[in-house]
Amino acid sequence: MNLLPFHITAMSIAFASMVVAICIAHWSKKNKRWLKAHKTLNIISVVSLIIGFTLAFIMVQSTGGPHFRVDHGIIGGMALLLSLCVLYLGFAIFKSKDKHETASLKKAHRWAGRADLLMLIFAILEGLDLAGIL
Ligand code: HEM
Ligand code: HEM
Repeated sequence: MNLLPFHITAMSIAFASMVVAICIAHWSKKNKRWLKAHKTLNIISVVSLIIGFTLAFIMVQSTGGPHFRVDHGIIGGMALLLSLCVLYLGFAIFKSKDKHETASLKKAHRWAGRADLLMLIFAILEGLDLAGIL
């Protein structure tokens, strides 16, 4: 069974949810429910990334591997790890009791989140190149 379409679908959902979540945090903070939407969409994004990664892993394994042999896989894998860190930082903002620590966590979360989105864009471009679409 060809898992590639499922890999692409899961990663597209992950990317689209993250873009919308970040746009909400940037432009819709006046809306009372922005944080709930940002959190929910980003959790959907990270879950989809994990599913997409698992599908890619099985796909590569079934062809005999090795894993992470192409730039696409390396960048994609790093983007997933960064997403987990950004998610952690997001929750840590609300655990922190110290004003200065909270401000640093927010800054780290904002910039790591933007870097994460950029990495996903590179992973997608490399993936499209790999599949011969670009
Ligand atoms: C956010 C988007 C994406 C991420 C994070 C991602 C991540 C990954 C990762 C981590 C692997 C390697 C798994 C391993 O080596 O065990 C992989 C493999 C692969 N991905 Fe993606 N992917 C994304 C989107 C895409 C897209 C859009 C395409 C094609 C249109 C694509 C095509 C492929 C192919 C063909 C492989 C197999 C590579 C091989 O045989 O080594 N991916 N992906
Ligand atoms: C992988 C998941 C996540 C990503 C990629 C992400 C990304 C981002 C980005 C890029 C921003 C800055 C938007 C801007 O103003 O330009 C932001 C803001 C924010 N995010 Fe997230 N986020 C994620 C998950 C979460 C979670 C789970 C929470 C809460 C539990 C959270 C809470 C916040 C808060 C409170 C802000 C505003 C920070 C401030 O006031 O500077 N995020 N997020």
